[in-house]
Amino acid sequence: MSNQLKVGITGTGGIAHEHARVLQANENTRLVACCDIDFPKAEAFAAHWSCKPYPGQEQMLDAEQLDIIALCTQPHSHAQLGIQALQAGAHLLCEKPLAMTAAEGRAMVQVARECGKKLMVAVCHRFHEPVIRAKALLNEGKLGRLKGYYNAFVTRHPSYKDRGGVLLDNGSHAVDFFRYLVGEPQDVFAVVNPPSEDITDATEVWALIRTQEGVPGTINLSFDVTGGAALCALYGSEGTAVVDYERGGLRYKLADRGWVHEWYELPADHRFHREVSHFVDCILNDSEPGPNGEEGVRDLELIEAIWQASRRA
Ligand SMILES: NC(=O)c1ccc[n+]([C@@H]2O[C@H](COP(=O)([O-])OP(=O)(O)OC[C@H]3O[C@@H](n4cnc5c(N)ncnc54)[C@H](O)[C@@H]3O)[C@@H](O)[C@H]2O)c1
Repeated sequence: MSNQLKVGITGTGGIAHEHARVLQANENTRLVACCDIDFPKAEAFAAHWSCKPYPGQEQMLDAEQLDIIALCTQPHSHAQLGIQALQAGAHLLCEKPLAMTAAEGRAMVQVARECGKKLMVAVCHRFHEPVIRAKALLNEGKLGRLKGYYNAFVTRHPSYKDRGGVLLDNGSHAVDFFRYLVGEPQDVFAVVNPPSEDITDATEVWALIRTQEGVPGTINLSFDVTGGAALCALYGSEGTAVVDYERGGLRYKLADRGWVHEWYELPADHRFHREVSHFVDCILNDSEPGPNGEEGVRDLELIEAIWQASRRA
């Protein structure tokens, strides 16, 4: 298709392969280029996905007319590379978290606005079928009044520090879930371990958050536990819904019946396909992506509130 949007991927590590697969499958996009400061890595990636490799984003932007940059580097470079991509005229699909700080995120939002380009944070879990179903149960009133919320992403992960520590890494999914499913935060109490002045050292988080409507919720994160849990539970006056990542599905109980288990015949990467399709639709229809840059900033503000609360604890 000649009017396909031309895409370049910046950073060719783990998540970049998910982006490449779904970009190639999407009829409205064409992956034309990739770049990595580790050039042999970019070359191997390019050979695998049939695109052109570059040793850096600047060279890639100079040589190619790109409509979209999928930014897949570690978070510490998101603000600088994201702003560079937007100023070069590309729409930006930025991996989570949007940036290292809310201030950096605000600068990205400002540049996107000035350049008239779309900015979306790739929080793929919003596009995960069990999450969409749980949100629908909540919005349809089937769970009644929301009384409480619990979310755990507790696991072992070998390389957390360069991804921002657990609070910026899995925590960026957790805070986005909280805001998306429960509401905007009002008060935050938290313990973040180990005690350190550097957020990227964080391996454990226990945060208790109360929304502006008074609903309490807990976020529990770890990168240093054997076993662990990955779930998200909404407790309502008329029902409970649990997104169960380990078993892969949704279970819920409403007032008038027993537990229902829903399993989905969807490929594991369906959330990435939906994420990219949504971003592309927003570009083609000139609508606002969700989550956009402003939401990415609000996610970072909640991360910062958890971090600050833990320093006071
Ligand atoms: N949505 C999800 O479920 C999910 C899953 C994994 C990772 N992520 C996010 O994706 C991002 C990348 O994570 P990853 O695990 O793929 O990391 P990674 O370390 O595997 O890959 C990052 C790559 O970026 C390259 N890079 C670093 N600086 C660069 C620069 N200035 N220019 C070009 N390339 C540069 C590195 O050399 C590396 O190859 C992180 O923000 C992470 O949080 C999201």
